[in-house]
Amino acid sequence: MIYLTRHEHFNAAHKLYNPDWSDKKNEEVFGKCANSNWHGHNYELLVTIKGEVNPETGFLMDAKILSKILQDEVCEKLDHKNLNMDVDFLTGKLASTENLTVAIWDQIAPHLPMNVQLHCVKLYETPRIYVEYFG
Ligand code: NI
Repeated sequence: MIYLTRHEHFNAAHKLYNPDWSDKKNEEVFGKCANSNWHGHNYELLVTIKGEVNPETGFLMDAKILSKILQDEVCEKLDHKNLNMDVDFLTGKLASTENLTVAIWDQIAPHLPMNVQLHCVKLYETPRIYVEYFG
């Protein structure tokens, strides 16, 4: 088994806000992240796939194809967007890094070739905090 990781980047705006709660409770739970006029992050995304090396190519998967999947299914849909308002696959979800990481997994997994498995989606919200999801 071999692992390959592709690193991507996107910027996006969001706020953490539960519409079922009062403004006061949102502020208590989410603090500055509930700021009604939004704030942004420079997200760093690391996607790791695993499988066996194809003896004909020496590759696990053509990295150009993986890159295109990540661009088309994830980065294009998130970069310079408002995660609460602009992203169809986040509709109805709280725009936390945890939820975003799981949603990114679900965007990528169906597009991988049969012989390749998704191993990990790792998403940095800031240089000092990240979420990992293993499916
Ligand atoms: Ni935030």
